[in-house]
Amino acid sequence: MGSAAEPIELTISELAYGGDGVSRHEGQVIFVPFTALREKVRVVVTEVHKTYSRARLVEVLEPSADRVVPPCSLFTQCGGCATQHLAYPAEVRAKVAQIESALKRIGKLEKPVLRPALTGPDYAYRNRITVHNRDGRIGFLGADGRTLVDVARCLLAADDVNQKLAVLRERPRPRPHYSIRADEVRGEAFYQSNRPLAKLLQQQVVAAVPEGIESILEGYAGTGFFSKPLTERGIRVVGVESSAAAVPVFQREAPKAELLEGRFEDR
Ligand SMILES: C[S@@+](CC[C@H](N)C(=O)[O-])C[C@H]1O[C@@H](n2cnc3c(N)ncnc32)[C@H](O)[C@@H]1O
Repeated sequence: MGSAAEPIELTISELAYGGDGVSRHEGQVIFVPFTALREKVRVVVTEVHKTYSRARLVEVLEPSADRVVPPCSLFTQCGGCATQHLAYPAEVRAKVAQIESALKRIGKLEKPVLRPALTGPDYAYRNRITVHNRDGRIGFLGADGRTLVDVARCLLAADDVNQKLAVLRERPRPRPHYSIRADEVRGEAFYQSNRPLAKLLQQQVVAAVPEGIESILEGYAGTGFFSKPLTERGIRVVGVESSAAAVPVFQREAPKAELLEGRFEDR
């Protein structure tokens, strides 16, 4: 590989978990943020590690048809988003490919069977965000993982979450981080963060349970997100959940389900 400052030309062969483009060059794997599948790009290598390198995109020589104009002016500075330069269907395809590869590589499944991905709005869907506060400036950490990027409105956040962000920005309190949550997200328990897709996911899981099933053991049951609608189908559900924050919410949200508190592996 040339010296660190010398530009090289690469073709992106896959998108890694997290969104970076991946290219193989002279036996080395190179990650290049903000690139798309099969694009030809000119890059400068910025980090060389034992098993991989990282590079900065200098120029897109042959753009992919998947490339779109990123809607947020902070894209590439802000660390919150990695794939705004991709059309939503391309982003979904990349994520499906990553799941399939993980099932093969880690799950050791030869031919994993995946249902078609559920899709929803590509912006304004998140029911919670975590922002940082540096001397009254509120925003996300930058793509470098250190700098604070001032964010007045996040395109991923649902409107009600952005309204709460605006209120916080007017009167920040002296805390280093804030978790800004929609009203339905309470306490420290886990909630699905994509509001419209969560509903679709719930419907799909409940519909996938065949007629005639009388009881279900649900590991990692959280706040009863799946247990509740399953009990409403008349199924006996026993949830297992280890988080002290989730347990009371589960009991309130899914009162017809039974709950075993503790680790699923210990049952
Ligand atoms: C990703 S959340 C999913 C929760 C719920 N199924 C949902 O979709 O909203 C995973 C849940 O598993 C719980 N959990 C993590 N490790 C666990 C373990 N070893 N045994 C039981 N629950 C666990 C977490 O507290 C969390 O509530």
